[in-house]
Amino acid sequence: MSGIDYLQEIERLRKEKNAIILAHYYQVPEIQDLADYVGDSLGLAREAAKTNAQMIVFAGVHFMAETAKILNPDKLVVLPDLKAGCSLADSCPAEGFAQFLNNYPDHLVISYINCTAEVKTLSDIICTSGNAVQIVESLPKDQKIVFAPDKNLGGYINKITGRDMVLWDGTCEVHDILTAEAIVRMKAENPDALLIAHPECQAAVLELADFVGSTTALLNFTAKSSAQKFIVATESGILHQMQKSNLSKTFLIVPSDETCSCNDCPYMKLNTVEKLYLALKNEKPAIELSEEVMEKARKPIDRMLEMSLQLGLVK
Ligand code: 13P
Ligand code: SF4
Repeated sequence: MSGIDYLQEIERLRKEKNAIILAHYYQVPEIQDLADYVGDSLGLAREAAKTNAQMIVFAGVHFMAETAKILNPDKLVVLPDLKAGCSLADSCPAEGFAQFLNNYPDHLVISYINCTAEVKTLSDIICTSGNAVQIVESLPKDQKIVFAPDKNLGGYINKITGRDMVLWDGTCEVHDILTAEAIVRMKAENPDALLIAHPECQAAVLELADFVGSTTALLNFTAKSSAQKFIVATESGILHQMQKSNLSKTFLIVPSDETCSCNDCPYMKLNTVEKLYLALKNEKPAIELSEEVMEKARKPIDRMLEMSLQLGLVK
């Protein structure tokens, strides 16, 4: 035992250093509860864009902290564990993506925010699961588009919008593993439950869903719905907020395999309260990017933020 009261020390240090703690819904409950803001990728990017804090402690994964740094080149952005990556971002190396794009010189490039800063520099517009459908829908019908890196989200947008976007072949290892078979079984055992799913899931899962959306959209849906039971096809961290704001409702997470009753993102779960305390105290590990990358990557992120406002998706 270290004898350190982490929560008390985090409270003291965040005031002393004028730091803000941003956390994604897939973080462990203790981190969600101590954060200044908990949200989905869009909410987190917007919060990072408007903060006056000197330092951002990002309790999420690397691409999220990178986005915060790109939006705040002069601020210190720390990630409690630098190894907190993302299989989806890893599935799209910038060099390979640049070569791929050579085949589509007249296409607009829309990239899901779950990608590296270098991939963002190759993109025209960034999107999140909270605005992807509306952003694509707002473009002219004959606009040729390459969508990267998530083929499940891209396929879902194609289906909803009737587009034929060229898709990069990437997936999230956490969502892609959820099977329609497991869900059909759960639905049979819980006929009164609604199925809600994140669009990073496979098409066969999304077709069974009563509602598809970003983590924030899923959370809002459970709060507004009159249903009392939900089968949840996404990462288990979201259950914390769902249970907190819907005390009488039941949430059943779709297991990733027969032996597991939970569904954790191994990267998100690398962050711990102790590592967060150390990052705040030691001001590292810090996110570092070249001026050139930050400048180029900022344009498609700014475009997403502007479009989200114009489309009335955020206030
Ligand atoms: P959202 O929270 O934006 O829906 O994204 C989910 C996710 O996989 C984050 O890595
Ligand atoms: Fe990446 Fe999937 Fe983890 Fe989200 S849940 S951070 S997309 S690996």
